[in-house]
Amino acid sequence: MDSDWTQGYVTEVLYTEHFFRELSPAWMNYVAVLGGCQPRPLDPGFTYMELGCGLGQTVTLLAGAHPQGRFYGVDFNPAHIDWARRYAGQAGITNVEFLERSFLDLTSQEVPECDFIVLHGVYTWVGPAVRAGIQRIIRERLKPGGLVYNSYNCLPGWAADSPLQKLVFEMARHLTGDASQRTQAALKAVEELVGAKFAYFAATPTAGKMAAKMAERNANYLAHEFLNEHWTPFYSSDVADEMANAKLSFVGSATLAENHLELLGGEDLQAKIKAQPSQRLRQLFQDLAQNQRFRRDVFVRGHAQLNRAGIQRNMESQVFGAFRDLTPVTNVAKVARGEVKFDEKAFPGLKEALGQGTWSAADLRKEMTARKLAHLDVERTLNLLAATGIALPCAVASRSPAMPATPKQIKIPLAVNRALLNRMVDTLAPGNVVSTLAGNALGIDPIFAVIMVLGQQPWKSKDELREKLVGEVKRRRIRFSKPAKEEKPLDDVARAGQFFERFWSEEAPVLHRLGVIELA
Ligand SMILES: C[S@@+](CC[C@H](N)C(=O)[O-])C[C@H]1O[C@@H](n2cnc3c(N)ncnc32)[C@H](O)[C@@H]1O
Repeated sequence: MDSDWTQGYVTEVLYTEHFFRELSPAWMNYVAVLGGCQPRPLDPGFTYMELGCGLGQTVTLLAGAHPQGRFYGVDFNPAHIDWARRYAGQAGITNVEFLERSFLDLTSQEVPECDFIVLHGVYTWVGPAVRAGIQRIIRERLKPGGLVYNSYNCLPGWAADSPLQKLVFEMARHLTGDASQRTQAALKAVEELVGAKFAYFAATPTAGKMAAKMAERNANYLAHEFLNEHWTPFYSSDVADEMANAKLSFVGSATLAENHLELLGGEDLQAKIKAQPSQRLRQLFQDLAQNQRFRRDVFVRGHAQLNRAGIQRNMESQVFGAFRDLTPVTNVAKVARGEVKFDEKAFPGLKEALGQGTWSAADLRKEMTARKLAHLDVERTLNLLAATGIALPCAVASRSPAMPATPKQIKIPLAVNRALLNRMVDTLAPGNVVSTLAGNALGIDPIFAVIMVLGQQPWKSKDELREKLVGEVKRRRIRFSKPAKEEKPLDDVARAGQFFERFWSEEAPVLHRLGVIELA
């Protein structure tokens, strides 16, 4: 491997760009509310640190979505930090700072005490000394009452397939090329073993399937997934014990459905989990119930368990909003157990309200009463809507005016979003925009970015804007990937027209309600 600053971690190829919405302060606060403890106040200001920030997209976009917060990204790979600083610079985001530091070296003087410390995709991939460094940073830099997000590959889900990592890791050592090429070649060689009737693969069909599925992923991502010397999947109870070294207790899961046992399995399974005498055992049972492979744990430092009234008060002020097009959403949603049904009578009114903006649970209850739908259990419904991804935890409650029937201009109020959209138009790669109402970022198809950037110049009719888009598609020779199913193949101009319609029917309402665009 490379020189010893790497501590067994892959550094010869860059990681990939990702944004993870579960790392948002608003999202973590909601998990705290569900877990019966106090969320961190987001106003007037707070401090947030991401350990192992990679290319820095998540921490940068979250800084953009929270101008009142101070954000820090820490990573020991100088190439990652350089990338992250450029990305933040291009987006004009100034409330994020990047530190090129190992978790073993970061000192208490370099970062203020934090309300939130997060690490995504790090814990499984580093060794015991580095994990001890992470625990030390949390111990020294997390405020009492502060929240931690830590995600990792876990057991028992990885138990049967973990020889796959060992095989790829060992085989890649003897191959040539950079880390990405060696990982890809090793995965290919593993696929050949599957065909050659090795008993392990016959006994563990999931491992062969996983090798095939993994082989389709980005090569740099694969190198970071498989080539780390200390790769270890954990039992949740062991991670809870390590986090206890930093005085942390488990609060809940940022995979929201996992906070609701009734969504995961039948009554017998629920009863067996609930009967366990401790949280760590209940979590372990839950992992067995789901054959869990990946956990997104939220911890708190100093668990002041609130009483019912306190929990209720926090839930009342919890804000929710829909990040997605609500048109196809019905009152039946899929969950691990099967399906969950929302109140049929109240659902159209609820959908309409969610289409107008973000709501605190208390205000949504008032709205439902005004709509003569007072019978709806708003709190439970919101929790289930969040668990099924229909409405998600947000930072600020706000309703936008109705979208004009014949808009004549798209305004993009935040300079950060104008910069992010311009970057997408330049690269034609998928990207994100930020919403201060959601306290989060939203993924955007680059063609939608082109529409928004063009739409800043007023137009007389939508046809005029569509023509501008078609002109841009021709001028820049923008190519579209073909959808899997298509009755009649479309040329790129016709497909641009299709995207244009989709922008107005599916995308614009979401961006409008979350304050990313204003329509004049
Ligand atoms: C799998 S990547 C995850 C990156 C990012 N959190 C994401 O999910 O996109 C793990 C990151 O941890 C960083 N890392 C690994 N060991 C480290 C250490 N000892 N000190 C600081 N950063 C480290 C790596 O450079 C890498 O960027």
